[in-house]
Amino acid sequence: MNTLRPLLSRPARALEGSVAAPGDKSVSHRALMFGALAVGETRIEGLLEGDDVLATAQALRALGAGVERLGEGAWRVSGRGVGGLIEPGDVLDLGNSGTSARLLMGILATHPFTTLLTGDASLRSRPMIRVMEPLERIGATFAPREGGRMPLAITGTAEPVPIEYALPVPSAQVKSAVLLAGLAAPGRTSVIEREPSRDHSERMLRHFGAEVTVEELGDGRRRVSVVGQPELRGAKVSIPGDISSAAFVLVAAAIVPGSRVTVQGVGVNPLRAGVIETLREMGADITLANLREEGGEPVADITCIHAPLKGVDVPPARAPRMIDEYPILAAAAACAEGTTRMRGLKELRVKESDRLAAIARGLAAVGAKVEEGEDWLAVRGAGAPPKGDARIAVNLDHRIAMAFLVLGMASRAGIAVDDASPIETSFPRFASLMNGLGARIEGNAAP
Ligand code: S3P
Repeated sequence: MNTLRPLLSRPARALEGSVAAPGDKSVSHRALMFGALAVGETRIEGLLEGDDVLATAQALRALGAGVERLGEGAWRVSGRGVGGLIEPGDVLDLGNSGTSARLLMGILATHPFTTLLTGDASLRSRPMIRVMEPLERIGATFAPREGGRMPLAITGTAEPVPIEYALPVPSAQVKSAVLLAGLAAPGRTSVIEREPSRDHSERMLRHFGAEVTVEELGDGRRRVSVVGQPELRGAKVSIPGDISSAAFVLVAAAIVPGSRVTVQGVGVNPLRAGVIETLREMGADITLANLREEGGEPVADITCIHAPLKGVDVPPARAPRMIDEYPILAAAAACAEGTTRMRGLKELRVKESDRLAAIARGLAAVGAKVEEGEDWLAVRGAGAPPKGDARIAVNLDHRIAMAFLVLGMASRAGIAVDDASPIETSFPRFASLMNGLGARIEGNAAP
């Protein structure tokens, strides 16, 4: 059992400076996994060296791939080809990482041996039936705990069946798991999504030489297909900065008076960038410069200058494009003038923690006005940041920890979190990067 690592974020003066965003977590997982399924060598630059991605690296090593760190963010993967992984000698522990667990299940579904998967208390409480269901149709078998929870055993099939699967929940992890299993099946495997979710797998599979097609089916639905049994070739991959991490820095600048901050090299994939649109609607002064492409993903330098924010309605259709940004958006909303209504948030209940409940509880504790529904949240901002003076329970959720530390910077009395260690999963050096811009985040303190 790890010991808790409390942190306190004291009220900050203006934040100023320019920083590089840490590598994108979603893209980093995929680069390692696809490299392991390719023939030959994959070279990765800018890999996020957070605990979640390191869990993927460790699991792939246990499955027989060569995964080596060459220098900061620079990694080499020696792949075994589609279907070429080998039975691991021990249980794979994926820590806090849902992406590692679900995407690896897609890969393991077509490897004819049994793998045992586990994780921390958060991951062991998350729903896995959503991935098991389509993967069983392809031919895998599972032995999970009650309710389809990890730890679980997965036994892959030697004769995978290509399927067409309509996603019951909007989830890039489930979509990716099915596409990864489809790589080993003969013919075409398709996923139909009602609302488009992040397409990093589609983009990167193409980069490694797979044939991936996307058909628009009308009213926003799309069919994403992969042609099975391709020869994936090792590739060079440059990882863009993570907009989900950059969002904490940008919102900090938006809510602390006098701030001006630039985050360089942020991935602005349209299926990820909903938070920029929403913050701009709230009145945030955000500009994108130096738009370019890196590793098949659009990238930009993003500057945010403090400006007064107002409440807005965030439509449910936008949720898949900013699903990880609601904790930090809610922190911005607590500093805005007027009510921000966020709808279509059912999926927040099954993230690293029940984020809808965690945001509502935390905002109430720091003195903000908030109402929580089954799948919505309304934050009534008073045109000034809340008082703070509270200690927030993080419950193994990195984004809850960071959102409240950012809100603490704008608060009058500071905000503490009971455990900052989960921040290592996605944003190593978060506190020192923020302090370098002018924040005052310190260890081991009250309230
Ligand atoms: C991710 C997809 C999203 C997101 C998660 C990363 C991915 O999860 O919340 O942080 O890398 O595919 P869902 O697929 O559950 O929506």
